[in-house]
Amino acid sequence: MLTKELNEKLTRVGPGTPGGELMRRYWHPVAASVEMAENPVKKVRLLGEDLVLYKDRSGNLGLIDEPCPHRRVSMEYGIPEEEGLRCPYHGWLFNHTGQCTEQPAEPWNSTFKDRVRTKAYPVQELGGLVYAYLGPQPTPVLPRYDILVWNDVLRHVGTTMLNCNFMQCMENSLDPVHVEWLHGYYMDYVWASRDPNYRPRYQAKHKKIGFDRFEHGLIKRRVMEGASEEDHPWQVGHPIIFPNILRVGGSGNYQFQYRVPVDDTHTLQYTYIAYRPRIPVPAQDSVPLYEIPLKDENGKYRTEVVLVQDFFAWDSQGPIAERDKEHLGQTDVGVIMYRDLLREQIEKVERGEDPMGVFRSEAPNGIIQLPQEEVDTDPVTPNQPYKTYGLQVLMNPGTCEQFSPLLGTLLELFRTAEEKASRGEPLLPALNPPHYPPGGAYHKTVELLK
Ligand code: FES
Ligand SMILES: [Fe+2]
Repeated sequence: MLTKELNEKLTRVGPGTPGGELMRRYWHPVAASVEMAENPVKKVRLLGEDLVLYKDRSGNLGLIDEPCPHRRVSMEYGIPEEEGLRCPYHGWLFNHTGQCTEQPAEPWNSTFKDRVRTKAYPVQELGGLVYAYLGPQPTPVLPRYDILVWNDVLRHVGTTMLNCNFMQCMENSLDPVHVEWLHGYYMDYVWASRDPNYRPRYQAKHKKIGFDRFEHGLIKRRVMEGASEEDHPWQVGHPIIFPNILRVGGSGNYQFQYRVPVDDTHTLQYTYIAYRPRIPVPAQDSVPLYEIPLKDENGKYRTEVVLVQDFFAWDSQGPIAERDKEHLGQTDVGVIMYRDLLREQIEKVERGEDPMGVFRSEAPNGIIQLPQEEVDTDPVTPNQPYKTYGLQVLMNPGTCEQFSPLLGTLLELFRTAEEKASRGEPLLPALNPPHYPPGGAYHKTVELLK
């Protein structure tokens, strides 16, 4: 459990709060590039601040305060000009630095505009997403993580707005045993209650779970019944990228789940997936955006969808989980490691230091490679081998891809890859991600079965 005070410190993200100051050291996605092509002005709420993202007629992006500094009309209704965004009410124009550059309704010889500024933040695009940085200068480098820059993949991005604090989402990513229960036993219960012919799919239990701190965050590992410590889910595992990204997937499906803190009690999840079927993929001129719906037409959580099972678990913990009332068990050791890391990094910022995951220069070769387990078998049911894991995922009605405009293309690609492999034809080389073996000062293991 946490004291109420520490819970507040870790979860609050508004300006001037300790947690908010930490989260302001990072670039956060605020839109998909494709949204700005469709509509050049978008209202954005990030870290408790109401802002407006726009693309001007020169194609440059800007992010400024939502209220116009004149008489507070929303710049969401602004007009993109050759350079900057013009307020619809009296035509004041602001550039991407927040400087007012025109006040057409003021007297011709007025210099008032030179003394008017609005709040403005840096924005950058990468991999089909638009990122914003709300922290102090100097602005850190936008990290070029592998799946954002690979060129032999197809990508899409799903969005879901959650009614809870971001920390609930992150704690879930340090909690391996929930997979066995929420996505296993509960999943079977949900499907069996709808279909009397449903055959329970999940049987395997966790034998052992483990966690490590590494240069980009934490790694979680598992050994399931029927698997061994030699297998990827233990040797490689999958990481959370501090402070708020889960990296998960494997074998053709590589994803980031960004948990973007909108404010203290809302989180925007961007489920960003790069698919690598190991055959050439068609060029993508934009990364499509789609919604992964939290609820169905009757207002009920879509509990048959794996990702939504996580979403409803986080949502149902309340807007900010009351951690002074919880009872942690031994399997919550990863959750505790995450909380410790969060508290330590907040303290670093309080001392004036850069926290983990803030980069001041480009990575060598311009790309940050992350560890990623490859799975030849279903990680939850190791006795059910996957010929091509990516294809099996796409064909599963419990996965988020069913909502994506890319589903048909992806199925075709993965089927072609599987057919090629079954004819013994070579595929593109497998990935060779960096490997951080278990061990070291922060390593923790919990044995669950004898
Ligand atoms: S309120 Fe924006 S120009 Fe007047
Ligand atoms: Fe989950």
